[in-house]
Amino acid sequence: MQETLRIAVIYGSVRDGRMADTVVNWVKHRLGEWPGFTVDVIDPAGRDADDQGAHDHRLDAADGFIVVTPEYNHSFPGALKSLIDSHFWEWQAKPVAFVSYGAASGGIRAVEQLRGVFAELHAVGLRDAVMLPNVWNQFDQDGALLEADMSARAMRTLLARLQWWANALADARRTHAYQEVVT
Ligand SMILES: Cc1cc2nc3c(=O)[nH]c(=O)nc-3n(C[C@H](O)[C@H](O)[C@H](O)COP(=O)(O)O)c2cc1C
Repeated sequence: MQETLRIAVIYGSVRDGRMADTVVNWVKHRLGEWPGFTVDVIDPAGRDADDQGAHDHRLDAADGFIVVTPEYNHSFPGALKSLIDSHFWEWQAKPVAFVSYGAASGGIRAVEQLRGVFAELHAVGLRDAVMLPNVWNQFDQDGALLEADMSARAMRTLLARLQWWANALADARRTHAYQEVVT
């Protein structure tokens, strides 16, 4: 079993004035309260046109991922798809957890589509997720959740399962490289 796991928190939105900063900050704080994780934040807004297709070594180093995505027109943002598609080996045999937000749906349709994308990339999508419907009404001006209990409990479940999967798959990758299973 590994002492410390690297978790990459991935932004879905690159919009000016995005709610994503508030949601990602909340996720980072919850991660900071949880022992055993070190955290990288991956923001596709920092990738310019020349970076498309460039590999981010922090994704390679990660033992697991938390994708923080809004819902756009019943799907997830194009910038997130571009980041995902720019990588391949980096996702394999690793767990992906989802924190989503939006209007009434809470981003659930974006997450359901992401599950198919990550399955194609040999990643393991976690069943346990956090959804924040009507996200504009969820946080106070300091970025604290107004009704924190339910979402904080859901986040603890997500982190416990992510830790389990990240440990299990890190051990498995060390024992037998995933790319060598099929020769
Ligand atoms: C182009 C666009 C499409 C959207 N489509 C949906 C949608 O289909 N379902 C939903 O629940 N919310 C939808 N919303 C609301 C967003 O999920 C919400 O504004 C969220 O805050 C966007 O994330 P961001 O501010 O971090 O970019 C949409 C917003 C935008 C800008």
